[in-house]
Amino acid sequence: MSGYPMNLLTLHDLKKEEIESLLEGAVSLKERHKNGIPHRPLLGKTLGLIFEKSSTRTRVSFETAMYQLGGNAIFLSQKDSQMGRGEPIRDTARVMSRYVDAVVIRTFGHDIIEEFSRYSSVPVINGLTDLHHPCQVLADMLTILEKKGKLSPLKVSWIGDGNNMANSWIDAAGHFGFELALACPVGYFPDPAVLDRARALNRAISLTQSVEEAAKDSDVLNTDVWASMGQEEEKEKRAKAFKGYQINSRILGLAKKDAIVMHCLPAHRDEEITADVIEGPRSAVWDQAENRLHIQKAILERMIGAAA
Ligand code: CP
Ligand code: NVA
Repeated sequence: MSGYPMNLLTLHDLKKEEIESLLEGAVSLKERHKNGIPHRPLLGKTLGLIFEKSSTRTRVSFETAMYQLGGNAIFLSQKDSQMGRGEPIRDTARVMSRYVDAVVIRTFGHDIIEEFSRYSSVPVINGLTDLHHPCQVLADMLTILEKKGKLSPLKVSWIGDGNNMANSWIDAAGHFGFELALACPVGYFPDPAVLDRARALNRAISLTQSVEEAAKDSDVLNTDVWASMGQEEEKEKRAKAFKGYQINSRILGLAKKDAIVMHCLPAHRDEEITADVIEGPRSAVWDQAENRLHIQKAILERMIGAAA
């Protein structure tokens, strides 16, 4: 797609039409894959993955996506790369750009990926920062499209931490105009700048402390862990603050009869979500996880193809 943005750092950076095009691309790539039709547009291309935090889904889906598209992937954890020993981000970005065709980064501060992208001459994709997790929310939107046939009008609820996932959901709501009801405890609200810019586009983004209010008549109930990666030492404090910020059968009962429950995983059963709900018939979490693969393929095809 000509004119496709160089980087995917947040959903806000993309135009609504670009997100729609990625979702359409993922639908057709998924169909092709299910029918066993090979599609190898990235033959001879290499994806670099620099991960400073753990990952199962993001790493495996991006690597598999690259292989299915005919390319290769090289994974560097914090302990493998010189970045982990203090080599400057800007040096790593310029060197990696001489070898690979795109880079996926999972790191802590969003400023790290911003700096990397300023010095990189190949596309940079956000595989999760403390502030955003755009590729996960793209997979989630694909899952909602499959289950509900539309993204709007719908009521999507976010129960729990105003974290990276919440911020990317807010960006998505800004673009697509669905109702987004966030229930977060005081002190754990989403990023105010992200909220402000999205609310300028969509007035139906609300923030409450009431889980019941957010869940009421919802089409999609969404949650995530109480303590994200990098917040391990806050675990006990957060467990107290988030008590009651849980998707359980009572909360599910407040939502629409055909509501689906989403969680980006990994999940902590009986903290942010009960075991019966995540294992229950309304849970969409395994489809969500699968859709990471199909949306990553659409992202890679567009971004590496556009840069080539
Ligand atoms: N949902 C998600 O990003 O999972 P991983 O941390 O396993 O990549
Ligand atoms: N909010 C979680 C998401 C994990 C995929 C974290 O950052 O750890």
